[in-house]
Formats: sequence, C-alpha cells, structure tokens
Amino acid sequence: WKTLDDLELEGKVALVRVDINVPVEDGRVTDTTRIDKIVPTVKDILAKGGKPVLLAHFGRPKGKVVPEMSLKPLVPALEAALGVPVHFAEDCIGGPAKRAVAALPAGEVLLLENTRFHEGEEKNDRELAAAMGALGSVYINDAFSAAHRAHASTEALARVLPSAAGRLMEAELKALEAALGDPERPVTAVVGGAKVSTKLDLLGNLVSKVDNLVIGGGMANTFLVAQGISVGTSLAERDMAQTALEILEKAKSAGCTIVLPSDVVVAREFKANAPHETVAADACPEDAMILDAGPEAVARISKVFAESRTLIWNGPLGAFEITPFDAATNAAAAKAAELTQAGQLISVAGGGDTVAALNKAGAAEKFSYISTAGGAFLEWMEGKVLPGVEALED
Ligand code: 3PG
Repeated sequence: WKTLDDLELEGKVALVRVDINVPVEDGRVTDTTRIDKIVPTVKDILAKGGKPVLLAHFGRPKGKVVPEMSLKPLVPALEAALGVPVHFAEDCIGGPAKRAVAALPAGEVLLLENTRFHEGEEKNDRELAAAMGALGSVYINDAFSAAHRAHASTEALARVLPSAAGRLMEAELKALEAALGDPERPVTAVVGGAKVSTKLDLLGNLVSKVDNLVIGGGMANTFLVAQGISVGTSLAERDMAQTALEILEKAKSAGCTIVLPSDVVVAREFKANAPHETVAADACPEDAMILDAGPEAVARISKVFAESRTLIWNGPLGAFEITPFDAATNAAAAKAAELTQAGQLISVAGGGDTVAALNKAGAAEKFSYISTAGGAFLEWMEGKVLPGVEALED
C-alpha cells in the first residue's frame, strides 16, 4: 500500500476515512483517543496543501437517518484536537456535500455526515462509493479499526480513487506486522476474556504462530474443565471442553507452550471486595468461583514475559472490573510495561476491554503500541485479511 508520502496533494480534495466512533455521554465525548489519533494524518494533508474531507460512521443506524447518531456533535472535539475550523455537511454525498466541499477554505477541514445513514454503506455499494468519490481526487484510509468491514467508504471507495494509508493506518499495520507477521522471537500472546467460543479462531491461529500462549479470564476455566479439573461455580463453557482439548493438542504439535493458571483466587460471589482466598487451580471449592489468577501464576507469566522479545495481548486475566480481582491483570501488565521500557520487549495490545484494563493498570502508555481497534484487532489476530487493508493493497 501507498502512504501519504506517495501522494501529491497541493490544492486537492482528499477524502479521508477515519474512525471517530467514540463514546459519547450527554453529548460529550468521554474518550477522545480515536479523535486524537487522526490528527497526524489531517495535519499532514493540510501541510501538503490538501483539503481534508472526513468520512466516518457513528454507531449502527442501519441505513436510516437517526438524528442521535449524527456526527455533528463531534465537531467541537475535532476542532479542539486539530486546532483548525471544522465545517460540517448534512450528508456524505450529493448537493449538501458538494456545496460544502466547494466552500471549504484552504487550511480548514470538512466533516461529512454519518456514512451509515445510507443503506449502501454496509452493502459496499459501488454507486454510493462513486458518489463519495466524486467529491475528491484522492482517498486516504486512516480507519484501521473499521477495516474489518467491507463497506462503501472502507472498501469500494479505495477502488474508485487513487488511494493510500493514513498515518494511523500505517502505524497500526507496522505495529501488528512487527508483533505477528515477522516478530522477534520468542513471541508470547496473552488471551483472556470470558469465553472460548468467541475467540476460537483466534486461539487456533495463535497456537501455530506464537511460542507461548497465556490463557486467562473465564476462558481459562474452560481449559481447566477440559483437563478434568472441577471449577466450582465458575463461569466455564462445559460444551467447549472438547474444543479446548483440540486447541491444547494443536499447540503441542506446533511447539507452542500453553500457560494456564497454577493457582487461582476464588470467592463465593461476584462482587467487589468479596471475601476471597487463593487456592491451587485444581482445588476450587464446589461453592466458589474463580475470579482471578493467583500470585504463583503471575510469577510464571512474568517469567515467560521476561524470556520473550515480543508480546501481544488481548483480554484481561481475571475479573479486572472489580477489585481485588484485577490484581493478576495489573501485575502482569506492570511487568510487561517495565520490560518494554527497559527495551527488552516489544508489546502490542488491542481490543476495547484490554485497553481499558491496561489503562486501569497504568500500563497502557508504557506499551510499545496500543491499537485503537476492537473488532478489527481480533479479526487480525485471527489471521483474517481485513477488506479495508486489502483494498488499499490492490
Ligand atoms: C469499532 O468501534 O470497533 C469500529 O468503529 C467498528 O464499528 P462497528 O462494530 O459498528 O462496525
């Protein structure tokens, strides 16, 4: 794929697909990360004399105009981040968009209304893409976190205009390639979260690519059950036990070491500060549930990290949203952060919950790279080709 460096932008209208699908409460943006991350791309376009016209989705309006899902309320947050006036057009195609593009002064930015207000967006409709394409002369995709969607503004449009990756897209692809494509070994992956069933493809892909796979959270319980260990009242998918065994087998033949918790923190109820105790992983009382990995497990995980060169992390190790069951996640994240800062580890993490957990642990900013992507990060970890990226390559 091409980058902004390959494009001549002087006086040209650049259509930029961004992902500013940010959390909003009472009309205010509560986390501006995704907005902040598009700043380098927009500034580079302006510096090259181009006119940035932003295309984006917001929420899931399913092809209808849903006023609550308008992008207009994001204009102040965009202006604050970009430091230039941001204009708004009531539609992403047709008359309103054309007039707004024609009136856009040099050095300023235009945001077009939610692409998903059109039915054709999620259908990857060529006519819609052509109507968007008619507004500008180049297309820049900076929305890695929406690249798993084959939509008109992420896929078809790349085939309409000369295209390139924006700075954020570039950074995401480079970081992910360094972690899984051609990594420094040994590579360790941490996969946590509640269910094996939602991360089956991911686990299956990782065992043939990484040297160590640390399994945590509720899904570790399913692996314990698969090995005939009783987990009391813990969350576990008993019907996935056979699948878990197959993953263990696949790992063995691929030479991937699976790290499951050797000790666990158990409680009788899922509540912050519930009375708890640490027991061996095979000694969970019948009336208790596993809510976190224990200190012995954390020591083992830390040792694995220290012996690794690359770390890729998705999913917390325990019930990180309630104390003290965030302890294992916090301690392992702190270790990864420390090794990264010491130049011993390349650490990459992604996924909504994961980033929240690493932020809570105060470790996120010390990682080598934190992806802005949720679903796209998972699909990439599954080894899938992301349509938005593939279209740029073609
Ligand atoms: C995200 O928030 O992960 C992206 O913006 C994609 O949103 P979607 O899951 O609604 O396609």
